[in-house]
Amino acid sequence: MHTFTLTSQSVEQSQALGRRLGALLQPGDVVALVGQLGAGKTYFVKGVAVGLGVADDRQVNSPTFVLVNEYTGRVPVHHLDVYRLGEPEELTAIGFDEMCTSGGVVIVEWADRVREVMPKRTVWVEITVTGAEERKIKFDMNDAEIIPRVGQLAK
Ligand SMILES: Nc1ncnc2c1ncn2[C@@H]1O[C@H](COP(=O)(O)OP(=O)(O)O)[C@@H](O)[C@H]1O
Ligand SMILES: [Mg+2]
Repeated sequence: MHTFTLTSQSVEQSQALGRRLGALLQPGDVVALVGQLGAGKTYFVKGVAVGLGVADDRQVNSPTFVLVNEYTGRVPVHHLDVYRLGEPEELTAIGFDEMCTSGGVVIVEWADRVREVMPKRTVWVEITVTGAEERKIKFDMNDAEIIPRVGQLAK
């Protein structure tokens, strides 16, 4: 397990950090967002999407009701919000396994609700509100291929 925590002092810093992560991602990677409502998960995802080459981050919004949004970057980006999901098995029904293995990047908000179905190639990002505009952003990864690549974020 490889873990490090960074601090963001603004929405812009959170997005910039997301962009740095997005630039490091490769097809088959999964990003799991954890944090309370309003923590900044979706703003972080906007950054990740831009880092993945998505041209316009205005199309990046929490897919709370539709479950999954798709964006076109240098790879396909699948953005899920499983807040309203009943059972982790429902993810299978919407094609989660295929999304994870089809050569794109998958990003999941509220991923702690489906922890047991998340693949090993997952970067866990836990955002904690520590002030009006301050956030602690903790990164956790446990995959031999991801750690040296995404671990560059800590430097
Ligand atoms: N450092 C920060 N990073 C991200 N969002 C922040 C930060 N400081 C304040 N905010 C505010 O917190 C809210 C985060 O919203 P959003 O990203 O939609 O949260 P979530 O997806 O976790 O529910 C926004 O209103 C944003 O302006
Ligand atoms: Mg959100």
